[in-house]
Amino acid sequence: MRAAWSTPAMLAAALIFGAAASAAQAQSAGEKLFKQQCAACHAVAKDVPMGMGPNLAGIVGKDAGKMEGYRYSAEFIKGLDGQKWTPELLEAWLTNPQNLAQGTYMMYKQNDASVRKTIIEYLQSIK
Ligand code: HEC
Repeated sequence: MRAAWSTPAMLAAALIFGAAASAAQAQSAGEKLFKQQCAACHAVAKDVPMGMGPNLAGIVGKDAGKMEGYRYSAEFIKGLDGQKWTPELLEAWLTNPQNLAQGTYMMYKQNDASVRKTIIEYLQSIK
């Protein structure tokens, strides 16, 4: 009798823990990719000194080219001034920055759509 009610309870618990574990995994996959692909040039924590590139803390929703204390290239300003970093703009940027700002200092491009998506989701989670 006891087994009859505890089994659904255990299943429910397993489902809840399962969902939490996969959310944590999604987070760490993004974090891992960011560390591999972006962290050599970009910090994401607030109040960390700028690297070769601007700090990306809270970048999603911010105006492009406005991270305080960073000297953007003239090409970047020309290509992106007045734009906001939406997930769509980030998608285009990571695919090939040179398409948006010919001559930008950011020497990077990512052909794999799933890598771009995972990194953009990670950036959205960083406030
Ligand atoms: C080799 C160094 C390098 C790597 C790797 C790199 N970036 Fe950059 N990134 C830069 C530089 C430099 C700039 C400034 C570009 C300029 O001024 O022309 C920049 C600018 C940016 C901006 C614009 C920020 C703003 O203030 O408007 C975003 C967003 C960005 N990078 C995201 C990324 C992401 C996400 C990754 C990893 C997938 C990445 N970058 C990898 C060097 C890099």
